[in-house]
Amino acid sequence: MYRFAKRFDGIGGSEIRKIFGLLAVPDMISFAGGNPSPELFPAETLAEISEEIIAENGKSVLQYGGTLGVPAFIELLKYRNADIMRETDDIVVTSGSSQGIDFFAHTMIEKGDVMLAESPSFLGALQTFRLADADVKTVTMEEDGISTTELEEKIKQYNPKFLYTIPTFQNPSGITMSGEKRQKVYDICKKYGVLILEDDPYAELRYSGQALESIKSYDDSGIVCKLASFSKTISPGLRVGYAIANKEIIAKFNLLKQGADVHTSNLTQTMVMEFLKRGYYDEHVKMLCTEYRKQRDAMCGAIDKYFPQGAKRTNPDGGLFVWVTLPEGVNARALFEECVNEKVAFVVGPPFFAEGGHENTLRMNFSMPSIPDIEKGVEKMGRIIRDFV
Ligand SMILES: Cc1ncc(COP(=O)(O)O)c(C=O)c1O
Repeated sequence: MYRFAKRFDGIGGSEIRKIFGLLAVPDMISFAGGNPSPELFPAETLAEISEEIIAENGKSVLQYGGTLGVPAFIELLKYRNADIMRETDDIVVTSGSSQGIDFFAHTMIEKGDVMLAESPSFLGALQTFRLADADVKTVTMEEDGISTTELEEKIKQYNPKFLYTIPTFQNPSGITMSGEKRQKVYDICKKYGVLILEDDPYAELRYSGQALESIKSYDDSGIVCKLASFSKTISPGLRVGYAIANKEIIAKFNLLKQGADVHTSNLTQTMVMEFLKRGYYDEHVKMLCTEYRKQRDAMCGAIDKYFPQGAKRTNPDGGLFVWVTLPEGVNARALFEECVNEKVAFVVGPPFFAEGGHENTLRMNFSMPSIPDIEKGVEKMGRIIRDFV
């Protein structure tokens, strides 16, 4: 009856979002979600800050604001990103980095244009790209980030408009692109005039290893759009992220944002700004890293202990996920059904691959479950996988 736009053809919503209903049963141990832990939200501090903001600045905060963001907040973000910003760059505050992904796709893609994504990649972004009529081609992930040989081949073959990469503690794989590869990916893209959409919401959640430069820091030619977010480090419900890119790109984002939501909430922007300005942020992120490190160690240790030989896992230095490749022939979807019956859940791997396949892979989240649940759930999964093998 409805004459929906053709762009929805073949897009039925995320397979993963659909299973969440299934998991809301008592006693389910879930490694399926991807949320930060609500136990660690700085709720009391944010309550105090928001009350003060409304009491003292209610007239401006509750009014419409500028589309690019609250000016004082933008200045603070510029200051904090001085090492990667060029004179020719600008910042727009976005309603989460999801909005930056959406804007970049709509700024660059015309029907049928090719773009490249990592394989596997973040499902939300893949859906956004498809809804923007992009033809998504993929580049294989290696242990230190995408294959640069394949990247160059695919660029020559498809002449893509841009590469979408999540370089640090990638969702879903947990893989981090090495410093050497960041430079190489940048050089290849620059050589062929391919833009880079660098989505980096997990970079600050590092539990081991050395911090790496953002790809944006190499950008001497305005080809990188960097997306950052406070969703994983403060709270996703605030919906505050930002994009840094050449002024010409940000001008297009400005036009799209006028139609999308006029501007990101003045209240939540100001809450994040005050959280940063009052010095809470760095301490808070340090605390998150201490807690999540324990959860990561518990999950990696339990997988090594309980999963059968032949199961391989990634070794994430941060972020929220471990990626598991089971022995050939084990079907993660069939395993999922069995596991859910026994009240332990994860996310199957195949939907994260734009080109399909990879039936023996799965993603496990360690930020939501408690350490005793991690031990109990992984032990249970290990037993079920052994029966499968
Ligand atoms: C790689 C990646 N990018 C973007 C997002 C969206 O985050 P935000 O809440 O900032 O929109 C997520 C959320 O899970 C993510 O994993």
